Amino acid sequence: MENTGTIRLGDENFEFPIIEGTEGEKALDTRTLRSKSGCITFDEGYGNTGSCLSKITFIDGEKGILRHRGYPIEQLAENSTFLEASFLAIYGELPSEAELTKFRTEVQTHASIHTGMHHHFEGFPSDAHPMAILSAMLNSLGAYYPEMSSNDREQDLAHFDETAALLISKVRTIAAMTYRQKQGLPYVFPDHNRRYAENFLHMMFSEPYNLYSDTSGAAAALDLFLLLHADHEQNCSTSTVRMVASGGANLFASVSAGVCALWGPSHGGANMAVIKMLEDIHASGDDGSRFIQDAKEGKAKLMGFGHRVYKNYDPRAKILGISSEAVLEGLGIDDPLLDIAKHLEKAALEDEYFVQRKLYPNVDFYSGILLKAIGIPVEMFTVMFAIGRMPGWIANWKEIAENPKSRIHRPRQIYTGSTIRDYVQMDER
Ligand code: ACO
Repeated sequence: MENTGTIRLGDENFEFPIIEGTEGEKALDTRTLRSKSGCITFDEGYGNTGSCLSKITFIDGEKGILRHRGYPIEQLAENSTFLEASFLAIYGELPSEAELTKFRTEVQTHASIHTGMHHHFEGFPSDAHPMAILSAMLNSLGAYYPEMSSNDREQDLAHFDETAALLISKVRTIAAMTYRQKQGLPYVFPDHNRRYAENFLHMMFSEPYNLYSDTSGAAAALDLFLLLHADHEQNCSTSTVRMVASGGANLFASVSAGVCALWGPSHGGANMAVIKMLEDIHASGDDGSRFIQDAKEGKAKLMGFGHRVYKNYDPRAKILGISSEAVLEGLGIDDPLLDIAKHLEKAALEDEYFVQRKLYPNVDFYSGILLKAIGIPVEMFTVMFAIGRMPGWIANWKEIAENPKSRIHRPRQIYTGSTIRDYVQMDER
């Protein structure tokens, strides 16, 4: 097959190699376009731009396929834990029993936060958004581990295994401490005998004389939620992590930037927006039908629907839809929001507007219902996403850091402002 492609600009032809991924995805390698032709590509939103070569995650949005390191998300959800999937994303292979034990021990060892950081939490006002606190704390954390956050690639990589386990562990502790601080509750220290998700619920909800006990399967449901968020290719936050990493920044700084990028309602903030939407619909007495009409008329957006890449069902939404129903049943919760969500989904999937635009539920559509059932407050939802996405950010940072040919990311622009003008003195303006 022809492995070059030609771009014709005016009378001139420019030939470029075609790169092919292991799943047959093709890309025209235009890295020399500007130097050869003086022209650049314009692709606002990067819908057609491959920013990197990556071995971590494969998505076929048309077919609704998501695989990490070759393993379908359905198989991982069925058989793995969040920590196993994290190890897979970061190191490329599923761990052996010994590797998993070592990784888990490393994660457990790093669960506590340096007491010097406690006063940082106390400095935030009680109405501070938990994502602002999380981002600030992750970056501050680097200050307590200067040997891991040197911005010297070789040195940061030499400490990589420990830094990765530390971040996966401490992001969870920081999240729980943020919640406790905002509630005016004393911090609960991690319990090394509890597994990852259960330990988080313990740090969130235990009281001195009433330790958290998982009798309803909430920890398993949370672990599944985290696993389903572990990585998702070059989305807004992961691209941000890679962008920051490309300048040589350490892992703490890079994932802290990822948290900021995740915050917005078009990205990780959508899980909060979904619950708000469902609550508003419920409060208005609508069963969802009127809201669907508003969305079609451009008066509202059906949050948790649509995706830049998936033009089919997001496989994670399918798994979460089933598990949120099971969790609610297990906890004996009858949440009217689940009924509204199911009605919205059915109505949208049958409606010409959504069908034509290939708008399907994304991961955020059911995740809020699941988190709400577990008892996580709505303003913590995006933080939960960040805990889940941490291994993906780490794996992407590692790819950049380990690539000796990696260049600083520096897109170009098309300037549309004023052309050169003479300076106008103040008294003449
Ligand atoms: N509700 C109603 N209409 C929608 C929706 C929606 N949720 N999403 C897209 N559309 C419509 C657009 O209005 C547009 O219609 P038009 O062709 O008549 O102008 C068409 O579908 C295409 O939409 P785009 O905005 O071009 O799609 P894009 O790929 O840029 O945006 C996005 C994707 C941001 C996810 C969008 O679908 C959205 O805002 N969804 C709701 C927010 C959400 O759930 N975000 C989470 C995404 S998943 C994640 O980050 C974890």
